[in-house]
Amino acid sequence: MNCISAKNLSKSYGSVRAVNEINLSVKSGQVFGFLGPNGAGKSTAIKLLTTLIPPSKGSLSILGVDAIKNPLDVRHKIGVVLQQPSYEPTLSVEKSLEKYGMMWDVPKAERIKRMEQLIQDFDLGEIRKKRNEDLSIGQRRRVQVAREFMHDMDLLFLDEPTVGLDPSTRRKLLDYLKNKVSTGLTIFYTTHVLTEAEYLCDEIAIIDKGKILTVASPDSLKTKFGKEKTIKIHIITKEDEISHVLSGIKDCKIDFNSGTNITIHSHESELVLLQVLKALNENEIEIEDLSAVPTNLEEIFLKMVEDNASNH
Ligand SMILES: Nc1ncnc2c1ncn2[C@@H]1O[C@H](COP(=O)(O)OP(=O)(O)O)[C@@H](O)[C@H]1O
Ligand SMILES: [Mg+2]
Repeated sequence: MNCISAKNLSKSYGSVRAVNEINLSVKSGQVFGFLGPNGAGKSTAIKLLTTLIPPSKGSLSILGVDAIKNPLDVRHKIGVVLQQPSYEPTLSVEKSLEKYGMMWDVPKAERIKRMEQLIQDFDLGEIRKKRNEDLSIGQRRRVQVAREFMHDMDLLFLDEPTVGLDPSTRRKLLDYLKNKVSTGLTIFYTTHVLTEAEYLCDEIAIIDKGKILTVASPDSLKTKFGKEKTIKIHIITKEDEISHVLSGIKDCKIDFNSGTNITIHSHESELVLLQVLKALNENEIEIEDLSAVPTNLEEIFLKMVEDNASNH
């Protein structure tokens, strides 16, 4: 079953298309990652999907409910941790967990049980009596995420939950989430950190300037784009001389960076390389250095965002 199904979902703020006709189908029981740089539209997308703001246009179904017609029905079934902090300054950690459980009508005995479990799972023991206002940003964030697990839900939305966490706390949170997903929870997760998406997500949508650029599993992203290699050639000859020598070579992108570097970036980089070497050789141009740069997900991500920027 599709947990989330969005068609042409859009949100504009004046002339800014924060979310621009996105289509999504997210299956149950997985972590779906929304990966994009700052300002890409991730938070706006989460607010749309959780019915906190209405779309400018498009349709949306969440857990089988028409989210535009029945936003309140949706909100009862989902969990949301937004990007901005939300806490009551003077409440202690344990009180804020308990109060949150009360808001969700969790019976008292169950509330206490869950609170204790979460204090353990999120390492909150030492700070359980501390007031929220006395916590570090990372500690507050941990409490904010832990709190959401006071109630049952089928679908959880997390907007950059690891910002401010140190590496080991971050990893612990990701593992906690993975474990929850293995017991049936579906998570919609935004991040601008690629390694995090790669570690946690079953599917990743890359978003930039309000548009989804691609949706794929981390593995298939690598297979799809991994063939694309970058080869860098450093030559001694000056740029204007080399330009016409290479002008006949098609199907590749050759950039002249800082005068004497040729960069080949192509699906068929080996083939293009042969053509380039032949042309250089025929014109007696000496190569100073040649290196192949393996493509990793980080580069795929950066390149997609760069290409998207240059298309605008
Ligand atoms: N309430 C708002 N009013 C005006 N512009 C907004 C508002 N919220 C977001 N935006 C704009 O929409 C774009 C996407 O923002 P956002 O969804 O917060 O991106 P992200 O979460 O990926 O960093 C940005 O250009 C941002 O300035
Ligand atoms: Mg954001």
